[in-house]
Amino acid sequence: MSEIIRIKQKLENFDKEINIPGDKSLSIRWVLFSSLANGKSEAKNLLLSEDVRAAINAIKKLGIKVKLNNKFCKIYGNGVDGYTYKKNITINAQNSGTLGRLLLGLLINTKYPIKIIGDKSLSKRDFKRITDPLSKFGAKFKLNKIKYLPLTIFGSKKLRPIIYKESKGSAQCKSAVMFGGMRTDGVTKIKAKKSRNHTELLSRYLKLPVIVKKRKNFDLIKINKINKIKTLNYEIPSDISSAAFFIVLTTLMNKSKIIIKNVNINPSRTGVIKILRKMGARINLKNQKIYKGERKADILVESSRSLKAINCPTKFNNSAIDEFLAIFLVAAKAKGISYFKDLAELNEKESPRLKWGSKILNQMGIKTILTNSTIKIFGNPNLKIKKKIIIKNYLKDHRVFMTSTIGALAFGGSWTIHDKDSIKSSFPNFLKIISQLRK
Ligand code: S3P
Repeated sequence: MSEIIRIKQKLENFDKEINIPGDKSLSIRWVLFSSLANGKSEAKNLLLSEDVRAAINAIKKLGIKVKLNNKFCKIYGNGVDGYTYKKNITINAQNSGTLGRLLLGLLINTKYPIKIIGDKSLSKRDFKRITDPLSKFGAKFKLNKIKYLPLTIFGSKKLRPIIYKESKGSAQCKSAVMFGGMRTDGVTKIKAKKSRNHTELLSRYLKLPVIVKKRKNFDLIKINKINKIKTLNYEIPSDISSAAFFIVLTTLMNKSKIIIKNVNINPSRTGVIKILRKMGARINLKNQKIYKGERKADILVESSRSLKAINCPTKFNNSAIDEFLAIFLVAAKAKGISYFKDLAELNEKESPRLKWGSKILNQMGIKTILTNSTIKIFGNPNLKIKKKIIIKNYLKDHRVFMTSTIGALAFGGSWTIHDKDSIKSSFPNFLKIISQLRK
């Protein structure tokens, strides 16, 4: 039985400095790249969440040695062709779309079929978007009901490079094809709508045969087969998608201030900052640095004096894709009607998030107008929550849980939020950090 939390009181003002865990996208990519390196790679501040543990378990199943404790993770790669495993293995990607999808790119040359399974939420998500392009390389797939997990991948030794147009703005699709290209002789070419570019930056840092040309609305990427990867010692910067909940909480509070240390501020991830600043949030980036190709900074947030609605430019969508639920809370308090559009992809996440955003706000007493790809939010700067709010049956989407918690702490009212264990997939110490703000 999963635990329930009850929140009946707004949070008191705070002035704090916090550290949050490592970035999930970078942690999973570090695990996958290191599993192909020649020798020992070591990470510090690796996110120790269920998604990343699932990635570690996956490479262990593929015969890679891993040493893990609270301070570091060491991965002992055996080179790009160093996976060793028995026939008929099953890999459980649990809740992680990133793991399930990226890994398939690395497995297109598998000598034995491999079965990929996931939890209830992942089993409702579209894998055809990955298996379609990977089939073109020459791998074969058997999927449940055409597009879902469980799936089985049948690798090929006769792979051919592909030309692929990625038009959803999905970094998972782009990265899976990049990994496929790294397994394949010849030049794989991708024209990709802009999305997070961690795979490209890590490839550049590792000096892999990947060339990226940036255009205004898309990137052109060329990938060649990799023969060797050097080991990768990496101190993972903190996750802006986790930081976003504290950015939003502080923005919504009165007379509060927070410094979030050492956060990844890759421009392909900072849409939340750009959107919230336009709405009146006070966010500053301090101590900016470049680390192994990625940018990081301390994020200083002060409570906003007034918030205004936004007609959100769609150019921010991909760089804020995981933060919209939290952003919607700010729209709930903003003066005016906010409008977010072209967001059908939000319903493809761990839960149908556009719908859940609307459900949470409606329970708070905020009017919304929802379509398959848009939401209008009728903000109320004087919102007082009157009804009891219950949040449950949301496929344990970690971001639904955290958004609801932040809503409860910022707006007050009486909230019952089910499935506390959902935070384990991305931000296991989320509630601990909330309690640090109380002291
Ligand atoms: C991710 C890409 C995004 C994002 C997910 C992590 C990644 O998904 O929502 O949380 O690490 O590549 P899509 O590629 O489906 O947009």
